[in-house]
Amino acid sequence: MANQTWNPENYNKSARFIIEFGRPVIELLAPKPGERILDLGCGTGILAKELADTGCEIVGLDSSPEMVEAAKQLGIDARLIEGVEFESRKKFEAVISNAALHWMPDKYLVVRRVWQALKPGGRFAAECGGDGCLRIVREGMKIALAKRRLDYKARNPWKFCEYAEFSEILKAQGFKIEYIARIDKPTELGTEGLRDWLKVFANSHTEGLEEADKEAFYDEVETYCKPMLFKNGKWYVDYVRLRFLAVKPEE
Ligand code: BEZ
Repeated sequence: MANQTWNPENYNKSARFIIEFGRPVIELLAPKPGERILDLGCGTGILAKELADTGCEIVGLDSSPEMVEAAKQLGIDARLIEGVEFESRKKFEAVISNAALHWMPDKYLVVRRVWQALKPGGRFAAECGGDGCLRIVREGMKIALAKRRLDYKARNPWKFCEYAEFSEILKAQGFKIEYIARIDKPTELGTEGLRDWLKVFANSHTEGLEEADKEAFYDEVETYCKPMLFKNGKWYVDYVRLRFLAVKPEE
């Protein structure tokens, strides 16, 4: 029943740090003006717009109609996809993906589709949630859901990429890995803290709860996480990222 929904305005307000997360990925990709680049999971299109502004031809893909609409508002050629089912007759020099792959459960399929979208010599640069990402927050949610006799697993939309497993998937497809790293990235949240983060990113977990019970759920998750994630008056989330650059060899 994992059914995450998105509100682009709230996302841009509460998750600005995701845009910052994209900068090292752009650096890793090293885009050149004129290159045709696919942004897989383009969200509200802010990074796609930055790439477009450097003279690249960008196509954005997202499975959320609201996000696609928001990206189009920025002038991005954004398209709605079902899961990871995309096909492109005109191939790309590069695929970039920031904070999106952990929403796509079938990593083999994603990697195959990216491979098919790339020209020989094409680059795939991405960052996503890595193994152990949000361990504390997820534990807090598990406990709060179990108290309501609700199954965390059935509501959880995230499949984080385990370093060794994901490396194998890339290599099995034929990619050459130029760089890969697992990065601990505790991330400071805005003034609304963990509650706001949960509202933006974890709404599939609270689906169907009455509004008052949702608030109680947030209270319980905060109470569990506070000793570990609230420091010097600020909330943090316990992100772990997997960042990589892989190349489809020339034929
Ligand atoms: C992210 O956007 O990076 C993210 C969102 C939810 C869970 C994990 C990571």
